[in-house]
Amino acid sequence: MKQIKLGTIGSGVIVRAILDNVNVTEGIYLEAVYSRSEEKGRELAKTYGVGKIYTDLEEFLSDKEINFVYVASPNNLHYEQTKKALLHGKNVICEKPLCPQKKQVEELAALAKEKNLFLVDATPTAFLPNLQKIREWLSQIGRVRLVMSSYSQYSSRYDKLLAGEIPNVFSPDFAGGCLQDINYYNLYLNVALFGCPKSAVYYPNICRTGVDTSGIAILQYPDFVSECAAAKDTWGVNTVQIQGEMGYLYIEGGANGLADVRLVTREGEQSCNLQEEPDRWRIEIQNMTRMLLEEAHEAFERQLSTASDVIGIMETMRKDAGILFTGET
Ligand SMILES: NC(=O)c1ccc[n+]([C@@H]2O[C@H](COP(=O)([O-])OP(=O)(O)OC[C@H]3O[C@@H](n4cnc5c(N)ncnc54)[C@H](OP(=O)(O)O)[C@@H]3O)[C@@H](O)[C@H]2O)c1
Repeated sequence: MKQIKLGTIGSGVIVRAILDNVNVTEGIYLEAVYSRSEEKGRELAKTYGVGKIYTDLEEFLSDKEINFVYVASPNNLHYEQTKKALLHGKNVICEKPLCPQKKQVEELAALAKEKNLFLVDATPTAFLPNLQKIREWLSQIGRVRLVMSSYSQYSSRYDKLLAGEIPNVFSPDFAGGCLQDINYYNLYLNVALFGCPKSAVYYPNICRTGVDTSGIAILQYPDFVSECAAAKDTWGVNTVQIQGEMGYLYIEGGANGLADVRLVTREGEQSCNLQEEPDRWRIEIQNMTRMLLEEAHEAFERQLSTASDVIGIMETMRKDAGILFTGET
């Protein structure tokens, strides 16, 4: 692949965080934007220096200059928009969580493979060098017995919810809720490091819309237990602790970002941060672009498989906890 010519779907904060970094990365360029609103599309296109704006999805997907579509719409739209883009012969980079249901992820993965297209799961964690360091250091803490992850991020949209509105992120119509949005990162780190648990239970705080604003998931692995706490209605210290019989790992900043990693054993203590660049989206875009230009199909398939497992665990836990999205039974 020579270059990535991106078309974007959505005009929220994450699109801008990604495009700020596309603008400073070789090999990836913004070609066009799609928005439901001409005005929002024009503003986004102007900010990032392109002239092509679409308000019709079919026309956007028929643009022959676009070879990658970046999907950053509300969660419930990812499946349909990604499928359409793949059917139009476009490679896709899709925001997390890829879909509300595991069977949808599997269908999209099979479609991408059949068409020899990339389907990239845009969970930043997978692209962070500190993830490799954590994997390497795990062998030094002995048998893992406890994992505790905490990630709370008070949301301005929670204030809107309290004021009587229903923001997409708290709506069952848009596959919203804290598990999908925030606890996803805790679960992703667990699955990336340890694979799937043998069972998982979610204890949510559910709001009037029927989705969760915070909650705790308990993952039971064959040899240890893992607690994943997350909230959009509180704030606190975000950390991950992985405790073993011979030491522990302490990850500052929590599962989303993996900012700094500390290894403590009886022999002493060391810390490491392979991510001098603090912007995790810059690291994500730079590593993703390099991998795409190198056509690293197998690596992307492994990442997709991790995302699919996480989505399967979330789906089981939330349905067991009585959280159903619109149209689900
Ligand atoms: N990787 C990360 O770190 C990260 C961070 C934040 C969010 N995300 C993910 O990014 C995605 C978008 O999140 P967000 O908070 O930006 O969501 P959002 O504000 O609810 O919606 C994103 C965009 O989708 C379009 N949209 C909104 N409502 C729509 C509707 N009813 N029908 C069709 N399009 C609609 C809007 O663009 P137009 O008005 O221009 O059409 C909007 O800007 C989510 O999947 C989220 O999980 C990832």
